[in-house]
Amino acid sequence: MHIIEIKNLHVKIEDKEILKGIDLIVKSGEIHALMGPNGNGKSTLLMAIMGHPKYEITKGDILIDNKSILDLSVDQRSKAGIFLAMQNPQTIPGVSNLEYLKYVVNAHNDEKQKLKDIMTDIRLKAKDLDFDLSMLKRFVNDGFSGGEKKKNEILQMKMLNPLFCLIDEIDSGLDVDALEVVSNNLNTLDFSKLGMIIVSHYDRFFKKVKPTHAHVIIDGKIIKSGGSEIVDKINSQGYNWVKELI
Ligand SMILES: Nc1ncnc2c1ncn2[C@@H]1O[C@H](COP(=O)(O)OP(=O)(O)OP(=O)(O)O)[C@@H](O)[C@H]1O
Ligand SMILES: [Mg+2]
Repeated sequence: MHIIEIKNLHVKIEDKEILKGIDLIVKSGEIHALMGPNGNGKSTLLMAIMGHPKYEITKGDILIDNKSILDLSVDQRSKAGIFLAMQNPQTIPGVSNLEYLKYVVNAHNDEKQKLKDIMTDIRLKAKDLDFDLSMLKRFVNDGFSGGEKKKNEILQMKMLNPLFCLIDEIDSGLDVDALEVVSNNLNTLDFSKLGMIIVSHYDRFFKKVKPTHAHVIIDGKIIKSGGSEIVDKINSQGYNWVKELI
């Protein structure tokens, strides 16, 4: 069992305080839904956990299995088991998807794997994703459709076997079939060693990938935590009832 603890986290972007004291604990086997109105700090929290240099942590701590990760760079955090599926996946012109996957897989393993073996693994994992293998030859995310980018994030995630997945609006832009495919892929992961934070605006996604916990962020603070009933209430009533709790 692994545990990530976010303690009194304060985060600044370009001198503006965005997160104002976030406390959150996620353990293996748990799926935490993170909701909240636009622009209130959900992506900021995930970026700060991943270690994006633009997101300055001014106070608080992030610990994995009781050890602070604040001094770790993004790649070291990735090797420590954190994976971020980004809301807006980055394009990397000049680097093919296959080269990229080979590089990241080998960077995460002490023993370098041959391209042939990585390719076998990619084929297996791409099959369940309905992911067209011709996209491996293209530059990472270059010209990919919105849905293709999101599936590419899930393929990367499946290749790395992370301990903690931070999933930022993976459902945005997915058609109904792709939504089914992506949620099936998430549901079939081995949760015995995996904890997840999922940001989404929609209960239709949380109906497919059922959260064990749910939280609402408003103005950089978690205002309400509980179970999946929170997702239902937001779906039917919006955020006004949460704002009244501030
Ligand atoms: N580079 C930046 N410079 C200035 N402000 C920024 C920067 N990045 C984010 N912000 C601001 O931080 C706030 C929180 O943004 P964040 O992306 O975390 O919101 P969010 O809750 O994920 O919203 P959404 O649901 O729309 O994705 C917003 O007001 C945003 O404009
Ligand atoms: Mg966001």
